[in-house]
This record gives sequence, C-alpha cells and structure tokens, in this order.
Amino acid sequence: MHFHILIGTTSGNTEYLADAVSQALISEGHTTTLHDQPDLTEVPTENALWLCCMATHGAGEYADSIYPFMQSLSDQRPALEGVRYALIGIGDSSYDTFCQAAQDADALFSGLGATRICDSLTIDMLNDLDPEANAVKWLDTWQSARSE
Ligand SMILES: Cc1cc2nc3c(=O)[nH]c(=O)nc-3n(C[C@H](O)[C@H](O)[C@H](O)COP(=O)(O)O)c2cc1C
Repeated sequence: MHFHILIGTTSGNTEYLADAVSQALISEGHTTTLHDQPDLTEVPTENALWLCCMATHGAGEYADSIYPFMQSLSDQRPALEGVRYALIGIGDSSYDTFCQAAQDADALFSGLGATRICDSLTIDMLNDLDPEANAVKWLDTWQSARSE
C-alpha cells in the first residue's frame, strides 16, 4: 500500500514520530510520501490512503505546518469519498484541549466523506515515554487485524 503521511507539527516532535512510522511501513514493504507541509494541490484525494500525524497547539489548534491545509479543507470542502485515513493525535494531557486538533481533523475528514480505517491513536507527551515505539506498535495492531 502507499501511505501519504500528513504531518501537523509546530516544534518538530511529530516529525520524528512520522519518520519512525514511515520507516516501519517501508520495512513492512509499503511505500510512503511524507507531506511536511501538506498542500491540497499536492495531497491526492482519489483512491488515497492518508496517515495523519497531528499535534495540537495553541488552545486546541492545529499545528502550524498543517494549519493552511486544514483551512483549505474547511473553506473549499472538497469531496473526500476517495480517501481512507488513519490518525495519530499528539498532545499533552495537562491541557483541557487534549488532542483537540486530532479530534477536529477526524470530524472534518469524515464530514467531507473520507473513511477512517481504524481507531485513532492518542499520544500523551506528558506520560508517554516512547511515543515512536507506541506508534509503531499501533500500526502493527491494526494492520494485522486488517489482514486476518
Ligand atoms: C504553546 C503550546 C500549546 C499547546 N497546546 C496544546 C493543547 O491545546 N492540547 C494538547 O493536547 N497539547 C498541547 N500542546 C502540547 C503539544 O501538542 C506537544 O508538545 C506536542 O509534542 C507538540 O508537537 P510538535 O513538536 O510536533 O509541534 C501545546 C504545546 C505548546 C508548546
């Protein structure tokens, strides 16, 4: 399978996570395209598989690198029936708006017709000692469930 990995980061943590996930997918025989500043003119919306790694910033806002993309989706409201997606939310549970951006992305993607293919992963940077390993474990879990 080919995964388009959409990265929502402000201070870089999510980029490490996306790289780890990408390496894990490649080692399992998949291919990936990393979108470190996703752009609606470049991210495919037909027969496409998105893996969105989304950090929350501000008071529950999308991270900087993905903010314009999310804005374009909500302004232009393209049909996303051709998109399947998985979602990793990155945040810090000391905030009231814990992982709010990932929840908002989920609602926006599905509201535009995209299909989520597995339960989302939520990573709490306050308590999670090894986010990369947990993300790779999550990948293994839902991929093996799909191939059974
Ligand atoms: C100014 C600021 C605001 C933040 N706001 C939130 C928030 O509202 N909700 C949340 O879950 N995490 C919040 N966080 C935590 C970040 O999501 C967390 O540090 C994450 O690792 C940042 O990822 P990044 O380095 O990829 O940008 C905030 C962090 C900062 C520095």
